[in-house]
Amino acid sequence: MAIDNQEFKNALKLWASGVSVVTANSTEGEQGMTATSFASVSMDPPQILVCIHEGAETGAAIMEDKKFAVNILTAAQEQASNEFAGGSSMQERFDNVHWHQGDLGLPILDDCMVSLECTVVQQVRAGSHWVIIGEVQSTHGQGGEPLLYFNSAYGKVAS
Ligand SMILES: Cc1cc2nc3c(=O)[nH]c(=O)nc-3n(C[C@H](O)[C@H](O)[C@H](O)COP(=O)(O)O)c2cc1C
Repeated sequence: MAIDNQEFKNALKLWASGVSVVTANSTEGEQGMTATSFASVSMDPPQILVCIHEGAETGAAIMEDKKFAVNILTAAQEQASNEFAGGSSMQERFDNVHWHQGDLGLPILDDCMVSLECTVVQQVRAGSHWVIIGEVQSTHGQGGEPLLYFNSAYGKVAS
């Protein structure tokens, strides 16, 4: 018998991670959402994944355009994380950050740890989410102090 939602959340919130904003293009314009479900998949070829809720506008844009970028946030980008998690409208999310178009024409947030531009190689339905696997075509960034997420709160790496 599977566990209930609350038990699942209580367990998963004990996984510490970085924070990313996943971006894409749609006919409506730029799309983006906060995601911690980023993971490395394959070294050769270079592949990564993100898991996106079935109702998220950004997921629909990715599956339509077959391209997406993962922007890994710095500790200075907590506000962007909140806005891209639904705190602001899609228009405001992009109005309130500096961004530019990357090599694949995807929205790249300025001043991230690193941004990865990807083409979709596979999309797998898993329960309420899509597992989207992308092949990394280019990277941009300069490193820095990462934004962390643990136990439903933001954190930083201890110095
Ligand atoms: C720290 C954090 C991590 C999140 N990670 C994910 C994730 O990995 N996948 C997901 O589908 N939603 C995730 N969310 C929720 C989405 O960011 C949120 O539902 C967003 O508003 C969806 O975009 P939409 O408003 O365009 O539908 C996360 C939210 C927060 C605050």
